[in-house]
Amino acid sequence: MTLRLPVLPGVGVTLRAFRATDAPLIQEASGDELIPVITSVPATDDHAAALAFIARQHERSRTGEGYSFAIAEQGDRAVGQIGLWPRANPAGSATVGYWIRPTARRRGHAAAALGALVGWAATLPGLSRLELYVEPWNIGSARTAERAGFERHELMPARQLVGGTPRDMVRYSLVLSWLTTSRPPR
Ligand SMILES: CC(C)(COP(=O)(O)OP(=O)(O)OC[C@H]1O[C@@H](n2cnc3c(N)ncnc32)[C@H](O)[C@@H]1OP(=O)(O)O)[C@@H](O)C(=O)NCCC(=O)NCCS
Repeated sequence: MTLRLPVLPGVGVTLRAFRATDAPLIQEASGDELIPVITSVPATDDHAAALAFIARQHERSRTGEGYSFAIAEQGDRAVGQIGLWPRANPAGSATVGYWIRPTARRRGHAAAALGALVGWAATLPGLSRLELYVEPWNIGSARTAERAGFERHELMPARQLVGGTPRDMVRYSLVLSWLTTSRPPR
């Protein structure tokens, strides 16, 4: 099932499909200590490898694997990536991941991109819940999630292999209907 990737406006950012001209973004991200370890961004700044990464993102919507957006700042320069990955189990949920190029951090881009993604996700039929996983030391990612309305849950020991090493993760979730209705009491 092919997924249609929309263009999503946010505060100071636009989420859109990747383009070949975004290769310099991928080349810069390849030099980050974390991004190539937690994503499929190549660990080399080779231009052909960056173009292959971009082609893989288009493939993900073609095959129905998920939505991979480039985050563009004003002027359309790509500053990062944000993805929404629907999960078969449990049905109705999807995981979210994001990164911003090192030279464009601390300007609100991740928060704006996640806000735009969440607003759009709430309109997708059949999707009720978003999840994301953050390493306990990653304050920037935790703050980004909390600003978008995600709730912090448990610490999951050794939940995920990062660079071949099992790493603890904090689970965050957001129930999309709670964006528009009051949250039921527990
Ligand atoms: C985490 C990351 C996406 C944040 O992107 P960003 O565009 O710099 O974040 P923003 O400018 O939108 O900031 C969002 C919030 O996080 C805070 N923040 C961002 N980086 C921070 C840092 N290094 N230390 C402390 N707080 C930080 C901001 O102050 C802001 O919080 P506030 O609303 O309370 O002021 C970016 O640092 C990154 O790409 N890191 C590497 C990849 C990664 O960790 N991805 C997430 C994996 S779960």
